[in-house]
This record gives sequence, C-alpha cells and structure tokens, in this order.
Amino acid sequence: MASDVILEMRSITKRFPGVIALDDVNFSVKRGEVHAICGENGAGKSTLMKVLSGVHPHGTYEGTMLFDGEEVTFSDIKHSEAKGISIIHQELALSPFLSIAENIFLGNERATRGVIDWHETRARAAEAMKKVGLNENPDRKIMEIGVGKQQLVEIAKALVKDTKLLILDEPTAALNDDDSAHLLSLIDQLRSQGITCIMISHKLNEIRAIADSTTIIRDGKTIDTLDMHREGGVSEAEIIRLMVGRELSQRYPDHESSVGGEALRIEDWTVYNESDQDRKAVDNASMTLRHGEIVGLAGLMGAGRTELAMSLFGKSYGVNISGKVYKEGKEISMPNVSAAIANGIAYVSEDRKRYGLNLIQSIKANTSSAAIGKVSHHGVIDLHSEHRMVEKLSKAMNVKAPSLESLVGGLSGGNQQKVVLSKWVATEPDVLILDEPTRGIDVGAKYEIYTIINRLADEGKAILVISSELPELLGICDRIYTLSEGRVTANIDRKDADQETLMRYMTQEKEK
Ligand SMILES: Nc1ncnc2c1ncn2[C@@H]1O[C@H](COP(=O)(O)OP(=O)(O)OP(=O)(O)O)[C@@H](O)[C@H]1O
Ligand SMILES: [Mg+2]
Repeated sequence: MASDVILEMRSITKRFPGVIALDDVNFSVKRGEVHAICGENGAGKSTLMKVLSGVHPHGTYEGTMLFDGEEVTFSDIKHSEAKGISIIHQELALSPFLSIAENIFLGNERATRGVIDWHETRARAAEAMKKVGLNENPDRKIMEIGVGKQQLVEIAKALVKDTKLLILDEPTAALNDDDSAHLLSLIDQLRSQGITCIMISHKLNEIRAIADSTTIIRDGKTIDTLDMHREGGVSEAEIIRLMVGRELSQRYPDHESSVGGEALRIEDWTVYNESDQDRKAVDNASMTLRHGEIVGLAGLMGAGRTELAMSLFGKSYGVNISGKVYKEGKEISMPNVSAAIANGIAYVSEDRKRYGLNLIQSIKANTSSAAIGKVSHHGVIDLHSEHRMVEKLSKAMNVKAPSLESLVGGLSGGNQQKVVLSKWVATEPDVLILDEPTRGIDVGAKYEIYTIINRLADEGKAILVISSELPELLGICDRIYTLSEGRVTANIDRKDADQETLMRYMTQEKEK
C-alpha cells in the first residue's frame, strides 16, 4: 500500500559561497495535500525546492530525500520530472516567441519517428488547456497573453507530464485578484484529483484559504509545520511571528506627511498603445504630485498604470504621446530616460529582471549604475565614494547578501527587489515612481520598505506608488488616484477612501 507520506527530505544542507542557504532542514509532505512554505526573503524556500527538483543536483547538497517510497538522487530537472515532480519557478520560464501549444510541449515534444506531430501537439495542448481553464487559441504566442494566463500555461505544461507533485514558487505574486482566485481553485481541483502541491507564498490569506499544512523556514532552518485544520485554526499573526521570530504588531508604520508645494503636474496626458496603435493606453490623464506627499495609483490589470508611469519616465512606453508635464510649475520635456533622470524623476519598475537589474553584475555595480555621475569626478568613478554610497543604501534597505560584490543573480527574489529600489533612491530623485514596490516581498521586509518610503517623503520627495494591493495603498498613501481604461476616474483623500470606494472608481466605465 502506498504510504501516506509522499515526500521526505532529511537533514538537507545546501551551501553557496559565503552562505548556508539550508541548514539541516527536515521537511515532509503528505500524499494529496497542499503544503505551503512560508518564510522571509532569503530564508531558503526556493533553494529547498531547487534541491528537491534537481536544479541543485545530487552531490551539491548534503542529506537524503525519499519520494514515493524510494530514495532519490536527481542529477537534473529531467530526472525529477521523470519521477513525477514538476516545478514552476518564481520567475516564469516560458519562451515568449513560441506559441502556447509549443510551450506546453517544449522539451517533451510529441514526435513520431523523430518528426514532431503538430496535429497531436495541438490537440493534446487544447486538452491540457481545458483542464486548467485557459480559454485561448493554442497558436497564440506567449508574449501576447497576460501573466495570469502564462501561469496557467505553466501548469498545463506540468499536467501533460503526469505530475504527482507540483511545486509552485510564488504563483500568485504577479497575478491580480481574479487570476489568483482562479489559480487557487485550480490547485484545489488538482488536489481532489490526488495531485500533491507544494506552494511557496508570501500571501498569508491565500495560504490560510488553501493549505492543509504550512511549514515555516527562517534563516535556512525549519521552524515548525502547522496543521492548518487544527482546532481553533491558524492565524496570520502566528505565521508572521514564526517567520520573523518576533511579534509584528502592525503592518504599516505610523506616518504623518507634511505636504509641501507642487512637484510634478501632468495635464491631458494621452498615450497610444505600442502594439495596437489605435488604442489609448492612457486617456487624457491629469494629476498632481506634491513634495512630501505619498500618492497612490490604483487600477485593475490593463488600466494603464504602468503605461502612464513609463510614458512619463522619458517616453519608455507608448506612441503618439501628447500632453504637458510641469516640474515645480515649469513645463519640461522628457524625450528619453536620461532627460527624466536629469529632471529628478525616477521610476522603479515592476519587472526587476527586464528593466531594473543586470543579473550577472554585482550588487555594487547595479546599485550605482543609475547614479554613477554622483560618485564620479571628470568622468572617473571614485571607487571609495561608490562603495560608501552603496554600503549606506544596502544597509538602509537591509539587503541580505554575503557582500556588495555578490552577483545579483544569486540573491533571493525579495533581495533583488531591494537592490532595484536602492538603485533608484541613489539618484536622489525629487519624484519617485514605485511600480509594485513590494511584490514578492515578505511581511517584515514590506514594513522596511514602507518605512523607507515614509523617510523619502519626509525628505521632501514626491512619491507615486502603484500597487495592486488596495490595503497597501490605504495603509501608506495620503491620497489615491484611480485609473480605469486609461482615464483618471477619481482623486480621493485617504480619510475618504476604503476598498469599496476605490473598486467602484477602478471599474467605472467610460460614458458612451
Ligand atoms: N545560485 C545562488 N548562488 C549564491 N547564493 C544563492 C543562490 N541561490 C540562493 N542563494 C542564497 O541562498 C539564500 C536563500 O535564497 P532563496 O532564493 O532560497 O530564498 P527565498 O526564501 O526563496 O527568498 P524570496 O522570498 O526572496 O524568494 C539567500 O541568501 C540567497 O542569496
Ligand atoms: Mg524565492
């Protein structure tokens, strides 16, 4: 008879140069359950799953693993897949230029005598897509569909491989509420079909909604495994306490903004879509940011928040951009990114890999890259000033890494995010636009980032925060703009704002 434990990892230790990422970790998963893993950024969650799936092969770690009743020693991912383990990584790994069907079978092509059978591929892809509830043409390219759907493609890809154990590393971090809900119900459905799931997440409400067990990892060690169905239930506060090792009494620091004069104003800002040039991504938007003020920008996926921010930031997005921008009351023009930086504007991107970081460079090089002028004399970098600047910022942001020379590619997701923030804070901007600044960041580090935002505001900077998490906007902003279909639909003081009011304006349709 099959045992009711499908996975046991015993005394796993994994070292990287200068770090012990996992220190004698024990972890066991019951057959058919959804098992959540929680922990601060850099705790070792992704590393544990990479050991399990053979990304870090046998021989590069200490300890033993039993899967489905036998000891396993994986030499690579293919090897673990053959045993029925599939991992969906924190950063999605689909090929943007290939179709949905091609991606589903990538590395697992349906071939007869060496010739790929496209008819069969498409039919089987359609079947897998149906299972995950993805309504799309299988021939569409990955780059043309949103992240929510891409996530479903990843799961479909796992399902065609006869997966017994599905590992999801922060599956809903980049998803909006609807897509997250759909994904969670899909996980629930997979569970009822007997598939075991391990899910890493920073969203404690989702964990409480779906998980049967939760294991907490702190500093590379397993702290505890909680039975989520135990009598009395498990509270978010308890999980947080185990994660950070102390009580976190509030999610948002207290802050009283002292709002000064106008820093940036945009008038009638209109931007056309890059891929569909007849469509407006931003439609006649006007807004004002003041010194010392933290302003939120709320909107659903596709409302034009990122497009608005990027088009402002040196026309990094969009075509046929029109409208006016005033800095301290004077009209300015920002035809490119250097002009935006020169005008004291910084934009911290939501996509840290694509726009923010160079993964094969050090923390130091990444952090100083946008502000290199501030530590150079006559075009020569003063290495001492550079070091001091980066050291100060990394300390303030609490970046966890062996040294400032560590490559950014080796940092945990949350720590990468802190490096992107440091990079733009280093430019000492007057206006700082933060696009989803706490995505994928643990609750303790979020608090740190809110504190930094407050401090920047106290220094007189005007701050615009784009976030999909309404409680976050309500927790840190003085004022919130809502965006719907590219139009600014409301400008609300925090004291008059609540989630329902914001939602109403975020979904307000254009009058016909
Ligand atoms: N390839 C690597 N090279 C060097 N160090 C690494 C590598 N991968 C992970 N680490 C280090 O191991 C530790 C654990 O990282 P890991 O990615 O497992 O964290 P995590 O718990 O997934 O965090 P997050 O919530 O931020 O994703 C971190 O200190 C990280 O810098
Ligand atoms: Mg991780």
